[in-house]
Parts: sequence; C-alpha cells; structure tokens
Amino acid sequence: MLQAEIKAFQNQVVSWQKTHGRHQLPWQQAGTPYAVLVSELMLQQTQVATVIPYFQRWMASFPTIEALAQATNDEVMAHWQGLGYYARARNLHKAAAYIRELGAFPKTLEALLEVPGVGRYTAGAIMSFAYDSYGPIVDGNVRRLYARYFAIDGVTSSSAVDKKLWALAEAFTPSENCRSFAQGLLDLGATICKPRQPLCEQCPLSNSCLALSQNRVDELPTAKPKKLVPVKPGHFLWLIKDGHILLHKRPEKGIWASLWSLPQVEAQSPWLEEAKLHGVFVHQFTHYKLDASVWLLNDVATKVQEEFSGSWYHKNDLNKVGLPAPIRSFIEQQFDVKPDKT
Ligand code: ADE
Repeated sequence: MLQAEIKAFQNQVVSWQKTHGRHQLPWQQAGTPYAVLVSELMLQQTQVATVIPYFQRWMASFPTIEALAQATNDEVMAHWQGLGYYARARNLHKAAAYIRELGAFPKTLEALLEVPGVGRYTAGAIMSFAYDSYGPIVDGNVRRLYARYFAIDGVTSSSAVDKKLWALAEAFTPSENCRSFAQGLLDLGATICKPRQPLCEQCPLSNSCLALSQNRVDELPTAKPKKLVPVKPGHFLWLIKDGHILLHKRPEKGIWASLWSLPQVEAQSPWLEEAKLHGVFVHQFTHYKLDASVWLLNDVATKVQEEFSGSWYHKNDLNKVGLPAPIRSFIEQQFDVKPDKT
C-alpha cells in the first residue's frame, strides 16, 4: 500500500469529520474511557437514537467505574432492560469490577483486550475516542465502507474477509487525529456509505472508491445468505394475587439471563394441565423466533411461588427490576398501563 494513498484516505476522513461529522453525541461530550466503554457496548447491535437515553440514565445512576462496580446485578439489569443482548450488561458490570481491581483504566490496546467483554473493536474505540491514540476499529459500518472502498468480495463476517478488513484497518488507521478519524469512519458509514442508497456524490472518498469506479456499490458488501430461523414454543405462567404479579429471576445462563420474568415451564409441565390460555406473543431473537403462550393459573399461587422462588410485584413497581422487553410489553398490555420512562 502506498503511504501517499493511506495519508490521503486519512486526511479525507478527518477533514470530512471535522466539518460534516457528529460532534454532539453525549458520549463524545463525556469523553472518558468509562463513558466510551459504556457507549460502545450499548451501540453494539443498537441504533444511536435508541442508545442516547439509555446512556444518559446509565451515567446519571453509575457516573464512575467505581459506582458501577458497587451496583447490584438487579440495578444494572434494570438500567439495560429493553436494550436486548443482556450479556453486554453483565460484561460491563464484570469489566467495572475488573478495572476497579486494577486500580486504573487500562491505557494500551493489549491491556484493554484483557477487560471482560472488550474485544478488538471496543479496545480500538477506547484508544481512539478516549485517548486520541492509535486504535483500529472494524464494526458493521466500517466493514461496509472498507468492503466498498477496496471492492472486497465475500461475506464481511467470514473469517477470511474479517482478517483482510482488520489488516486494512491497521494499515489505514493514523496515529494522529485518531479521534476524528475513528468518528469519521463511523459517521461516514452511518450517514453516507449507508447500506441502501449510499450518498456517493457527497462522499469525500468517492474519487478513490473502487466499488464506485467499478459500478458495484449496490452489490458490495456481499449479502449474507438468508438463514431460515427456527420457531420455538415457550410457555409462561400468569399468576395474580391482590393486584400483584408473580415474577422470578431467570438463571445466569441462557436467554434473558439474570432478568426477571414470568415463570417459564416446559410443554409437559403438570402446571399446564390445569391452566387456561391467557394470551400469546412472539419475539424474534437472532437465532430463533419465540412463539410464547402465557397460561393463567388460579388457586396455586403459593406452590408456584415456592417452586420458582418467585416474588410478587405490583404493576406500578415493574420498573424497579429488569424485565425482557416482550415480557414487559405483554404485562403492560394486560394491565393497560403506560410505560414509565423515568
Ligand atoms: N456506533 C458505534 N460507536 C459509535 C460512536 N462512537 N458514535 C456513533 N456511532 C457509533
């Protein structure tokens, strides 16, 4: 790769970011390594607009890594509820404990990679955004941008293409203006080099983009073959006592780990023999679709509570615990309560 080509790429991304990129995102204002860690974990798989209020509530409740390390699992999960992919919240909590133990936030790529939940992308993002230092990043947006700019064929998440993308990222990432460069890549990916109808005429890289010159922008990056997702049934119990609903804390492994939920049983459970169907909902996970049935049980509240070590929650107190979004909306529909966003 020619140094001049690399330099030109870096300059174009950096100067475009300074005039056209985003500068008012709340985690940019904060700028601490902790704020970058929180925001980057939230932004994995989740849109900026969705993340902003979660980030603000999170930083208000857990303003420092020490505050987060001291919080309980329930407090942490309650702040993440609705964002999905809850392993991210558990990892963030573990990361806080790990960093508190270290005594200082890690400052090198190698040391950041040792933090629970921090992979190559997050380590690079913390180096770039918090320390304005060399930190290559490859996420969904950057994959698309590089796949087009270099006209790379193949599914970008495949290991061969992934390796190539990281090697390019390492070569093209500067050691100066690191923050603007990284933000520029993400901003270009989100606003110009979009998945559909990219705005090539406004792109600072259009003169040297190979996909554009080969007229292949629409076919790159190579689409992932569609997988058929299986449907799995799920059975949940609905028990009400004096306006309170029975919830239990799910195990630490599996779907909705450590969140509170309606008790879930197997299809063969004896509880279902005496239950009446109360309602249904579906929820799309990445790997399957949950086809949920919720079963009403009467007169056995205490026995079920004991079996699940459950707790009774008043409908107005549901915000105190982390509930999976589809369970929360099902319950709210039944009670016809409006979600409380505070
Ligand atoms: N997506 C992932 N990280 C981001 C960031 N720092 N700013 C905007 N979008 C992002």
